[in-house]
Amino acid sequence: MGQACLSNDEMVRLLQAARDALKQAYAPYSNFKVGAAVLTEKGSMITGCNVENASYGLTVCAERAAIFSAVALEGANMRIKALAVANESGSDCPPCGACRQVIFEFGPDAIVIFQSHGGVEEMHITELLPNGFARKETRK
Ligand code: THU
Repeated sequence: MGQACLSNDEMVRLLQAARDALKQAYAPYSNFKVGAAVLTEKGSMITGCNVENASYGLTVCAERAAIFSAVALEGANMRIKALAVANESGSDCPPCGACRQVIFEFGPDAIVIFQSHGGVEEMHITELLPNGFARKETRK
């Protein structure tokens, strides 16, 4: 699979969109506000934030919120070119395992950008999720 090419400008704008989105987070239990931004293959930038719940397990991460909004906006054929994640504290924030699988579903060639070791890291989804589960025979 070829590495999708992301311009520096796209990367900066995507990270900024993720940083803006985290301001909308509903995180009264963890106080850990996260924002995510998806750049779709069609060129739209769609954001999401984490939404927590008193029943902790119902929490939805910022990445999945952004991806589900992108599907709602572009439909079932939405494909992720790149996704950025940011949090308020500046601490390391690679996507959780569940979100990696959801990114892979819509972006098997996606670039994922996240805060790491005081800087920003850019990784291909298959580096973050080797051998991700797919049912390509059923994809329409
Ligand atoms: N969270 C995200 O939204 N994305 C991540 O990549 C890591 C964790 C959220 C879930 C929960 O609301 C809070 O951060 C603390 O785990």
